[in-house]
Amino acid sequence: MASSPSPSAARALLVLAAAALVLSSVSAAAGSPPLAKGLSFDFYSAKCPQAEAIVFSFLKDAIRKDVGLAAALLRIHFHDCFVQGCDGSVLLDKTNGVDSEKVPVLLSFLAKIGLDADDLVALSGAHTLGIAHCGSFEERLFPKEDTTMNKWFAGHLKLTCPQLKVDNFTANDIRTPDVFDNKYYLDLLNRQGLFTSDQDLHTDAGTKPVVTRFAVDQGAFFDQFVRSMVKMGQINVLTGNQGQIRTDCSLPNAARSAGDELPWSVVEAVESFVL
Ligand code: HEM
Ligand SMILES: *[C@@H]1O[C@H](CO)[C@@H](O)[C@H](O)[C@H]1NC(C)=O
Repeated sequence: MASSPSPSAARALLVLAAAALVLSSVSAAAGSPPLAKGLSFDFYSAKCPQAEAIVFSFLKDAIRKDVGLAAALLRIHFHDCFVQGCDGSVLLDKTNGVDSEKVPVLLSFLAKIGLDADDLVALSGAHTLGIAHCGSFEERLFPKEDTTMNKWFAGHLKLTCPQLKVDNFTANDIRTPDVFDNKYYLDLLNRQGLFTSDQDLHTDAGTKPVVTRFAVDQGAFFDQFVRSMVKMGQINVLTGNQGQIRTDCSLPNAARSAGDELPWSVVEAVESFVL
């Protein structure tokens, strides 16, 4: 399996990836997913009709060379969107601003940004790709195995992470690690979800029916994934003359006031309280 690509490689492809995701959205969805006023799926159709084809073939080539890029890009898009909207803010140098906020319940937090249970289950399906380091799930193995985890699976993970603090990694989706499919939901049905946040989707009565639906119907997963990605891509979206086009991708054009610091803690909070 490919290891994680360098952050700079992933960064370089971020913008392209976002465009490609929109591209695949249009073709896969039964009817276009809802868009905020001021956005369109064919913005470049007159000015640069080849834009999407260029992005698509560039990414296809890059991912063929390193399949790990697909996962890295997908994940960075999620992290970007959860920090003040999908504006490439993930490229900005981190400010030592706000400390970890406490977000009490994942779904109620997501509800505030317009995401529901279908979105949570579908977006978590991104864990059909990529890898995780032992540190991200080792507390489910040591000192005591999490009883929700399939016993064989726990033993399997211990081959990779034999004790706490081993620097190693494993596939997120044990069945088809490099294929974007619905096998992740089959993992969950078999109590072979890697993170607590994954397995909880099947344990929780509110999200379980969605997990089952996606496990038996890949088309339903793909359709919802498209809608949820497009939805996630519009968190705090800026349109028209709003916002700024950065001259240096890693810096805002003008100095920010202290109260204006980026809530970097949001992604960490989302990830920490569900793990
Ligand atoms: C629901 C909350 C989520 C939690 C708690 C979570 C947590 C994690 C963790 C702990 C890792 C492993 C990091 C490591 O050990 O290296 C990971 C990897 C990953 N996550 Fe998530 N995640 C969440 C949602 C999402 C969403 C919404 C997406 C995209 C739509 C996503 C896409 C990915 C991908 C593709 C990887 C693999 C990255 C790689 O191989 O480079 N995750 N996630
Ligand atoms: C890392 O994981 C592989 C299997 O994925 C295993 O063979 C190897 O022993 C592990 N390394 C350590 C230091 O445990």
